[in-house]
Amino acid sequence: MTRLHTMLTAAAVLLTGLVMAAMMPTQAQAGIAGTAHDLSAQGWGTTQICIFCHTPHNAQAVPGAPLWNHAVTVATFSAYTSATLNAVVGQPTGTSKLCLSCHDGTVALDSYGGNAGTHFMDPGGAKLGTDLTNDHPISFTYDAALATADGGLRSPASDKYVDAASTLPLFSAQMQCATCHSVHDNSKGKFLRMLNNGSALCLACHLK
Ligand code: HEC
Ligand code: HEC
Ligand code: HEC
Ligand code: HEC
Repeated sequence: MTRLHTMLTAAAVLLTGLVMAAMMPTQAQAGIAGTAHDLSAQGWGTTQICIFCHTPHNAQAVPGAPLWNHAVTVATFSAYTSATLNAVVGQPTGTSKLCLSCHDGTVALDSYGGNAGTHFMDPGGAKLGTDLTNDHPISFTYDAALATADGGLRSPASDKYVDAASTLPLFSAQMQCATCHSVHDNSKGKFLRMLNNGSALCLACHLK
């Protein structure tokens, strides 16, 4: 091999490695450690994982928020709306408000345990903002009556779970961010509760 050849081969090997690394799923992992929700490695003063969201003592009294330790958003949101929507969708409630307390970009990520915080979510896909008109509707009652009114929805098997396998939970009969997402588990990617190959997640509720 010529010297140029060797260099080209080495470059090709390096490139292949980089492409493969980029294609490798980074989120194939159960549990919160090492995921986007593990803020302990950010260097903001704590190596704990849970404390950004929960505390064992002196937690805030936020409805539906287990031992909550993060400042809760006070933003006013624009809710999803459409001509064909049957659900009554208002301001975010319950655990969706907890998600939006980081994902609307108005509250600092490190605003926990009474700290004001200075690190906000970076612009990009994860920052939903306060305009939810372009996001799947959340914080509404999903019951048999809604399924009948819509005509293209599976009726929730009970007021706790949407599907027979009990993978997509409702919260007090309401659909929330956490119906589709599992905040502590990124083993399926994007913190989803089930894989969406062939849009299986969507088809668990929509009869399309
Ligand atoms: C990024 C925020 C965040 C972090 C970090 C976090 N949680 Fe949570 N946790 C939530 C939210 C939001 C809920 C309520 C939504 C739900 O139940 O899915 C919740 C619910 C819970 C619940 C009650 C519901 C259930 O799933 O059993 C427990 C217990 C819990 N978390 C424990 C932990 C522990 C332990 C850690 C650290 C290893 C942790 N969480 C880290 C946001 C977080
Ligand atoms: C303490 C702040 C905080 C809370 C509370 C929080 N998140 Fe996140 N979340 C983050 C950060 C930070 C990221 C990474 C953002 C980025 O990539 O710029 C993230 C990323 C994500 C992602 C994208 C993951 C990926 O692989 O691209 C999803 C999905 C998500 N969060 C859903 C939720 C849901 C649902 C809730 C509520 C049940 C929630 N988050 C609550 C901070 C939070
Ligand atoms: C009906 C199910 C459903 C609901 C409800 C839902 N999501 Fe998602 N979300 C998804 C799916 C599916 C994806 C992955 C899309 C993809 O493959 O890129 C996703 C992706 C995301 C991402 C990553 C976006 C990106 O571009 O990286 C974030 C952050 C997120 N969701 C947060 C939320 C928050 C916060 C809520 C509540 C306000 C919410 N989701 C409600 C299904 C849902
Ligand atoms: C847990 C059940 C559930 C899952 C999972 C789910 N949806 Fe929905 N979706 C609903 C309900 C309930 C409504 C409200 C329907 C209504 O009121 O007309 C809705 C509304 C919608 C709407 C707006 C309908 C309108 O008339 O404006 C669209 C579009 C939609 N979903 C698409 C999706 C897609 C795409 C996915 C997968 C990424 C998905 N949904 C996953 C339950 C779900």
